[in-house]
Amino acid sequence: MRDAGSEGGADAVALRGRRILLVIAGGIAAYKCLDLIRRLRENGAHVRCILTAAGAAFVTPLSVETLAGQAVYTDTLALTGESEIAHIKLGQEADIVVVAPATADIMARMTHGIADDLATSTLIAADKPVLVASAMNTRMWQHPATERNRARLEADGVSFVGPNDGPLAEGESGPGRMAEVPEIVAAIVDVLDAQPGPLAGLRVLVTSGPTYEPIDPVRFLGNRSSGKQGHAIAAACADAGADVVLVSGPTAEAAPAGVETVRVETAAEMLAACEEGLPADIAICAAAVSDWRAAAPQDQKIKKPRRGKGRGDAGLTLELAENPDILATLSTPGPKRPRLVIGFAAETEDVEANAAAKLAAKGCDWILANKVAEGAVFGDDENLVHLLTRGAGDGAPGVEQWLRMSKAEVAARLVQRIADALPSGTETA
Ligand SMILES: Cc1cc2nc3c(=O)[nH]c(=O)nc-3n(C[C@H](O)[C@H](O)[C@H](O)COP(=O)(O)O)c2cc1C
Repeated sequence: MRDAGSEGGADAVALRGRRILLVIAGGIAAYKCLDLIRRLRENGAHVRCILTAAGAAFVTPLSVETLAGQAVYTDTLALTGESEIAHIKLGQEADIVVVAPATADIMARMTHGIADDLATSTLIAADKPVLVASAMNTRMWQHPATERNRARLEADGVSFVGPNDGPLAEGESGPGRMAEVPEIVAAIVDVLDAQPGPLAGLRVLVTSGPTYEPIDPVRFLGNRSSGKQGHAIAAACADAGADVVLVSGPTAEAAPAGVETVRVETAAEMLAACEEGLPADIAICAAAVSDWRAAAPQDQKIKKPRRGKGRGDAGLTLELAENPDILATLSTPGPKRPRLVIGFAAETEDVEANAAAKLAAKGCDWILANKVAEGAVFGDDENLVHLLTRGAGDGAPGVEQWLRMSKAEVAARLVQRIADALPSGTETA
């Protein structure tokens, strides 16, 4: 069964997983930013905020922090912990920087490359697209200095949304009113859409979830895989601009938006769907494929033997046959082999050693290994993984241990590692 993935609206598809850095300057329209943060997060974006000193006079750091769900950044001179490099890091870790409301003052400082606070230091250090939502009194907006600044910023590649013509806080009316929140959201989507994602031009095949192997029409062999990690990876690859086909075993997870999802039940069906999904640049096998299936699934329900007095437990012996190995099959050298094949290993002990053995045995390039113990991993929203990458020749694999993080964050980090390893934009053969 195929579906195109229709969860959420167009904004949700464009904003899901995107990292937005919002600079809130000292204008009366700053209050609208609280709603902007809420809308962006509702659409799946991650929002970090910088408040200028004047901005903090209009909205409190507490309100901003609460709505953004993370600490608000306020001052370059507070060199504690990570804020020491905040002006560099904040821009690097964003997909877009939005300045709203943009005061006449911050526009002037941006125009001249002034970096006298965290907001402007970050703006001059950021190599990401910048969107400005100006808001000010009409005379400030129409002042030749502001007009010059706007023209200069546009020439430097900065995008603008608004301002609109309408009632202003001072009781006057005219151009200078900040664009409304839906207009700013739409402008953010437009700017992001114009940026190619790090996996643009690449085709990715992802498997996810368990397989169900029928024993008879009502029973099956399966496992506890929830599909959360595989689905998160498919969504993250799509967010990064890849063309994604997701082959999913039976799970409660919704088909990610923007992803072609093929639903299957058995390992044999999963393999067939994967082969149909080729050629692909990258294959990520996150599904927990059942190693065995019933050798002779029955057409009718297997009946329990009748118990009579004196009869013991008759038991039932189920003969199993080995299932196709999808990861090994996709890893087999040949013209259809994806350039990067990534497997998953759920281990109950010796995670690193077992994952290294699996990497060698399957012929794949990377393994993401996690420890399955005391019910952890399956169904959890978090994951603790090791990334093993094939060494040169017979060399030992490289091993990275990632901190415990959400499955969405594991997916985002994996996408980053893939983007570093494979240049995007290469056409699939
Ligand atoms: C009540 C009040 C409202 C203001 N509203 C605006 C405004 O809407 N737009 C603007 O450009 N400046 C406005 N200002 C002036 C800015 O707050 C001032 O230029 C400040 O230095 C801006 O700092 P920032 O750009 O670092 O946030 C306002 C000032 C006050 C006292």
